[in-house]
Amino acid sequence: MIKKLRKAVLPVAGLGTRFLPATKALAKEMLPVVDKPLIQYAIEEARAAGIEQFCMVTGRGKTALIDHFDVAYELERTLLERGKTDLLQMLKDMSVEPGSIATVRQQVPLGLGHAIWCARAFIGDDPFAILLPDDLVLADKPCLAQLADVYHATGGNVVAIEEVPREMTNRYGILEVGYDNGKTVEVVGLVEKPAPEDAPSNLSIIGRYVLLPEVVTHLARMERGAGNEVQLTDGMAKMIGNAPFHGLRFDGRRFDCGDKAGFLEAQIAFALKRPDLAGKVRAFLKNYT
Ligand code: G1P
Repeated sequence: MIKKLRKAVLPVAGLGTRFLPATKALAKEMLPVVDKPLIQYAIEEARAAGIEQFCMVTGRGKTALIDHFDVAYELERTLLERGKTDLLQMLKDMSVEPGSIATVRQQVPLGLGHAIWCARAFIGDDPFAILLPDDLVLADKPCLAQLADVYHATGGNVVAIEEVPREMTNRYGILEVGYDNGKTVEVVGLVEKPAPEDAPSNLSIIGRYVLLPEVVTHLARMERGAGNEVQLTDGMAKMIGNAPFHGLRFDGRRFDCGDKAGFLEAQIAFALKRPDLAGKVRAFLKNYT
């Protein structure tokens, strides 16, 4: 029987050094795209895929991420007194079930695989999603919901993938591919951040995964991989052959919000989707071309 996907792990312990000085006292996942922080996009995408329980893998200085999903009593009362019902409704819409967000601390920055292992008690024996909030996806059907469909059909592991230029394979987890029907591909190998000449393809993993809980057992060995870190990709590679493993060419556009140019592009792309902003943004963009 294929278990329903209900859990998501959100690794958010990173220091965000690429966005200093903005991230000196502010969690990088609190940086907004238009007016919504990256962490909220990730939680909303997870909820749209049927996720009911969330685990944030945090570190020091990340409490704003938890506060963001708490009830802001004084704020709500003030909005009510001022008759700002639209804003009140917005806060209600973003609220999650009490008790549905758990947190664990990573304590030491040993890599993404280590971060996921830190959530082992939350994961238990259940399939789970991973969302890396730095990767923001603009899509009609949310990216994780697309992955969840493949998971519920196959009962196996699924990662969201996109093609990258050869010279950029050393920034991503890269797939070695078996059959390829144009939409889903069979994963027969995985390599973390290979040099272009060693990369088995130019299909890269983006920050959306649905994985079986067995990955935790492999991560628990704490074997170091690329960059001397415990790599999630290496743990996933150990599951190949034991259960179906697919890459999904998702519909949508991914923005790397851990990169300054990617982050700025996301601002524009998301603003152009907003009826209240699209006209103004289109108008001022003309001044820069
Ligand atoms: C991580 C993963 C990598 C994946 C990438 C997607 O790398 O290790 O396999 O392709 O996220 O954004 P990082 O960006 O943490 O270096």
